[in-house]
Amino acid sequence: MYQKSIEEAKKRLFNGELVIFPTETVYGIGGNANNNASVELIYKTKNRPFNNPLICHFANIDEIEKNFILKDKDYELANTFWPGPMTLILEKNKESKISSLLSNQKSFVGCRIPNNETALDLLSKLDFPIAAPSANIATRTSITSIKDLDNNLKNIFYIDGGSSVLGLESTVLKTNTKGCDILRLGSLTVEQIKNKFKDYFIEIINTKMSPGSQKKHYAPNKKIRINALDVNENEALLNFGQNNLTSNIKSLNLSIKSDLVEASYNFYNFINILDQTECNTIAVVPIPNHGLGKTINDRLKRASYNDG
Ligand code: TXA
Ligand code: MG
Repeated sequence: MYQKSIEEAKKRLFNGELVIFPTETVYGIGGNANNNASVELIYKTKNRPFNNPLICHFANIDEIEKNFILKDKDYELANTFWPGPMTLILEKNKESKISSLLSNQKSFVGCRIPNNETALDLLSKLDFPIAAPSANIATRTSITSIKDLDNNLKNIFYIDGGSSVLGLESTVLKTNTKGCDILRLGSLTVEQIKNKFKDYFIEIINTKMSPGSQKKHYAPNKKIRINALDVNENEALLNFGQNNLTSNIKSLNLSIKSDLVEASYNFYNFINILDQTECNTIAVVPIPNHGLGKTINDRLKRASYNDG
């Protein structure tokens, strides 16, 4: 069964089709990164603007070296955090065959080696990298299990790999002479990087360069009210830690024991469940703003952004 779906996915990717596959962060919707038509198909399917670049997934660092120029700090981070939830922005070399459509004609591309057996197994059977954004329609929430897949994406071939073990997207970063800039907060925390590289100067920048950092993003259909200290009549509740709050529609607790790792794992799934209820708003209690909590707060802020 498993081998059969890997074979099928491989066949489809070779034919230029798209495949939804698991990673340790969230599910990806992937295509052949060297094939312009496949890359274009990803953008069209997700309804994603072409100026928001895609992440390229690789089986190992040798494959990345064939396509990119890596500096000392890139190697330091790569050797420490790959395979894992880190996307490094690297400059393409002259030999690279990666479609320029993938990075809006720019030479800097987000690269990552996912820490998921299925994803690595599939990648190792291909002679091209997989271009893959998260498997959701643009501006909507990422998914951490196939049951949360958007109806509009259900006709695409998928590999069911169960629940994503981390639950929040990769951290997107770019190295410089002093350390690195974080372009999108994610599953790899600033604290984890600081811990390994004490001398790094790390800056969290909210740049237009990472359009996944645009204001309205990661949003469910229902409105989100953040930092809620009470719950209104028509609100579902996304809770965290121990308190007396409850909703007459539905309450879910990201982590009763206030564990941010558990909260990250539950985050998108719980948002999706509450989104299906009769509520008109999801009230979310304050989440501690450190470690993975910083990433959760970043997603909540964008999801609650009201663009009218
Ligand atoms: O965990 C993840 O990163 C998942 C899994 C499937 O790997 N992928 C994912 O991809 O979340 P996506 O496309 O939904 O988000 C990619 C983020 C966006 O914020 C995008 O703007 C940024 O990475 N990004 C990608 N390439 C970039 C580049 N060349 N320069 C700046 N930002 C880039
Ligand atoms: Mg995304």
